[in-house]
Amino acid sequence: MEKSVILQVRRYRPEAETEPTWQSFEVPFQRDWMVLDALNYIKDRLDGSLTYRWACRMGVCGSCGMMVNGNPVLTCATYVESLLPGPIRVEPLKGFPVIRDLVGDLTDFLAKLERVQPWIVRQDQQVPAAEHLQTPEQLAEYKQYSMCINCMLCYAACPIYELEPAFIGPAAIALAQRYNMDSRDQGAQNRMDVLSQHDGIWSCTFVGECSVVCPKNVDPAGAIQRYKVAATVDWFKSLLLPWGKR
Ligand code: SF4
Ligand code: FES
Repeated sequence: MEKSVILQVRRYRPEAETEPTWQSFEVPFQRDWMVLDALNYIKDRLDGSLTYRWACRMGVCGSCGMMVNGNPVLTCATYVESLLPGPIRVEPLKGFPVIRDLVGDLTDFLAKLERVQPWIVRQDQQVPAAEHLQTPEQLAEYKQYSMCINCMLCYAACPIYELEPAFIGPAAIALAQRYNMDSRDQGAQNRMDVLSQHDGIWSCTFVGECSVVCPKNVDPAGAIQRYKVAATVDWFKSLLLPWGKR
C-alpha cells in the first residue's frame, strides 16, 4: 500500500493575503523521497502556484534551505521517512523577510557578504607574471571554510541574528576567514576593520547553533572565535605599537 503524509506548508501570496497562512496537502511518497521531492509533488500535481527555491537536488547549490518542523535544513537532504508520522511543517527560513510562500529575501545577506570582501584581495595592483602557487598544506588551512554553500541555515539558527538584524552573521564571518587564511590573499586588515565593529564578531555570544545546523561542517562558530582572538591581538598591538600596528 502506498504511504502518504500530510505536509503543512506556510503560504504567503502578497497580492491576496496580508498575513501568511497554512495550507495542508496529502502527499503520497516513496521511501527514498526527500522533503523537496514532496514539495515538487505538490507543485507538479496539487498546486502549481506553490513557490520555493531549489536547483541542484544534491546539497550543493544551497538554495533549498527551509524550516522543517522548526529546524533549518536543506530540504533536498532531509528524508520524509525521518519525519513520520507527520504532519511535516514547512516554512521559509527564519530571520529573512518573506517574498512569497517559502522564498526569503536575501538582499541583506548579500550586502553583508560584500562588506567582508569574499574574494582574493591583493595590495599590489599589477597583473602577476605567473599564477600564485599554493601547497596542499596551504590549501588545507582554509579548505573547511571554503565549503560554505551560502545556504543561510546558520542565520536561521542564530538567535543573535534574530534579535540584532545588523549582525553580519556566521557565514559572512566564516567566508572572511576563508580568504584571510588563503596564502594568496592580502586583505585580512580590510576585513578586520569591518568585522571588529559592533555589528561584527563582537555581537556573537557563542551559542554555537550555527555550527550544529551547518550541512557542510564549515564551523562558523569556530571561525568567529578565531576572529575574536585575532581582533584582541590586533587591539593589543595597537596599544603597544600605536605608530605602526600595520
Ligand atoms: S556556514 Fe554552513 S550553514 Fe552557514 S551558509 Fe555556509 S554552509 Fe550554510
Ligand atoms: S537543491 Fe541545491 S542544496 Fe538543495
